[in-house]
Amino acid sequence: MNVRESYNEWSLQYDTNLNKTRDLESIAIKEVLRDINFDSCLEIGCGTGKNTIWLITKAKHLTGVDLSDGMLAVAREKIKSSIAEFIQADITQLWKFNSEKYDLITFSLVLEHIEDLGHIFSEASKKLNAGGYLYLGELHPFKQYTGSKARFDSGEGVHVVECYTHNISDFVAAAQVNRFSLVRLNEYFDDKDEQSIPRLLTILFKKN
Ligand SMILES: C[S@@+](CC[C@H](N)C(=O)[O-])C[C@H]1O[C@@H](n2cnc3c(N)ncnc32)[C@H](O)[C@@H]1O
Repeated sequence: MNVRESYNEWSLQYDTNLNKTRDLESIAIKEVLRDINFDSCLEIGCGTGKNTIWLITKAKHLTGVDLSDGMLAVAREKIKSSIAEFIQADITQLWKFNSEKYDLITFSLVLEHIEDLGHIFSEASKKLNAGGYLYLGELHPFKQYTGSKARFDSGEGVHVVECYTHNISDFVAAAQVNRFSLVRLNEYFDDKDEQSIPRLLTILFKKN
């Protein structure tokens, strides 16, 4: 199963599965972006709209992009607001899904499925207004080193989605090459236990 097929199947249970990473990231994005103002938002890998619901309380316009029709179908059913539009696209290709520019681009639990970060930061830079922000919230690489990956019970056993490990320095280097500055980096732990392996990495960059 490729990534698209995996998420089409996972979409049927994504919102109802026990999923600590999904739930922690929904807390993290609100903390990191609470004081950031934006009129327009490009939510990459919006999935079932977990974060869309909150992002449209701050944005005047949001475009949610995702590879999986199944995930998008859940988002469209859940979110009827005229502020949000949803588009099916593969971000490993050129981002030709529209000609708009945005104040904020978000990636929540998406980049672990993407091999070439350089392409993503390059395309994201073209879609951001000057001074715009790029937020990412990803399964922490330390967690990945222990073998943790996006997975769900497919009915025929546990299905592991195709994943790539990116070190913290990989994110920062790809951002710097594309002229982003690092604004804030945070690590989130299960039960706020800072003696444990961090579950989540968030980084906020600003386009120079
Ligand atoms: C773990 S889900 C996260 C969904 C949502 N952002 C959240 O936090 O709940 C990862 C999402 O990334 C999407 N995705 C993976 N690869 C993609 C690609 N190449 N282009 C666009 N979306 C992609 C998947 O379809 C899936 O909806």
